[in-house]
Amino acid sequence: MRDEFDEPQPAIETLDPAAKVAAAVASEALLPQVPAGIQLLNRDFLTDVANIPDGSIDLIVCDPPYGLGKDYGNDSDMRTGDAFLAWTRSWLELAVPKLKPSGSLYIFCTWQYSPEIFSFLKTKLTMINEIIWDRRVPSMGGTVRRFTSVHDNIGFFAVSKDYFFDLDPVRIPYDEVTKKARSRKLFEGSKWLEVGYNPKDVWSVSRLHRQHAERVAHPTQKPLEIVERMVLASCPKGGRVLDPFMGSGTTAVACARQQREFVGYEINESYCAIARERVSIAANPAPVKAQPVKAKAKRQTETQ
Ligand SMILES: C[S@@+](CC[C@H](N)C(=O)[O-])C[C@H]1O[C@@H](n2cnc3c(N)ncnc32)[C@H](O)[C@@H]1O
Repeated sequence: MRDEFDEPQPAIETLDPAAKVAAAVASEALLPQVPAGIQLLNRDFLTDVANIPDGSIDLIVCDPPYGLGKDYGNDSDMRTGDAFLAWTRSWLELAVPKLKPSGSLYIFCTWQYSPEIFSFLKTKLTMINEIIWDRRVPSMGGTVRRFTSVHDNIGFFAVSKDYFFDLDPVRIPYDEVTKKARSRKLFEGSKWLEVGYNPKDVWSVSRLHRQHAERVAHPTQKPLEIVERMVLASCPKGGRVLDPFMGSGTTAVACARQQREFVGYEINESYCAIARERVSIAANPAPVKAQPVKAKAKRQTETQ
C-alpha cells in the first residue's frame, strides 16, 4: 500500500513504450502463475479459433451453453430452438477441422437438443458412444407432468476408426467384495479382475452443489472427475486439448494435473480469473508439511 512518503508514480498512459511493456510484464507477474503449456484465453471462440492450426488438436472437450437460458454474465445462453441449433452448427464447423486424424471430441448437451446435435456431428465424425451423465440428483417434489430429468447427454465422436483411446488409466478398481465373489477357480489369475473394469457409458457422478468442496463461482461447473476421465482416455500424455467454452477452467485443471497441453476460450473475464486461479493451484499443489517425528516412534526405529 502506498503512503504520502512514496515517490509519485507516473500513470501508465504517460509511460514510454518500453516502460509500458515492463509495467504489463510486472502486472502479469502478479497474476496466479500457470504452466507454459496451458493457455487460458479471455476471447470469443468463434472469432479467435482461426488462430489454431487445422489438424493440431488431440481432443476437444466442449461444454457449450445448452440453450436453456443460464446467466453466464452475457447473453450466450439466450438462443433457443432453431437459432440455438444454427449457432451450435456454426461453432462445430469451426472446431472439428482442428482435430488430428487420431483426435476425438466430447460434447455435453441435454436431451432437448442432443438428437439434432448428434445427427449433425455424425455427418462429420464417427460416433463412438453416447454417455449418460447421471447427476445423482436427489428425489424431490418437482415436475408432475413427466418424469424428472436427472441426466446430461454427452456425445463422444472420433475423426477416424484409428482414434486414440487408452482405457487403462480410467479403469475402475473392483471392490474387495466383488473380488472375493470372483475367487472361484474359473476366475483365478484373471487380469481383468486386477486391472479394474471399463467405466461403461452411464457415469454416475454427483453434480457440484453449492456446498461441494470443488465448487467455484460458476453456475454450470462440471465435476473434475468426469472431464479428467475424458482427458486421460482420449488424449495422449503431452498431447493438446481444446475447450471452446472453458467456463471455470475444469478441462484446464484436468490438463494441468495430467500433463497435457491446453488451449481454452471464455468470454467472461471473471470466469477466466477463476480458471487461472484453479490451474495455478492444480499445477503447484501446496507442499505436504513433513510431520515431526514423534520421539517415541523415533526411539523404536533406532532400536530396530
Ligand atoms: C457450460 S459453461 C462451461 C462450464 C465449464 N465446463 C466448467 O466446468 O466450468 C459455458 C461457458 O461458455 C462461455 N461462452 C459462451 N459463448 C462463448 C464464446 N463464443 N466463446 C467463449 N466462451 C463462451 C460462457 O460464458 C460460459 O461460461
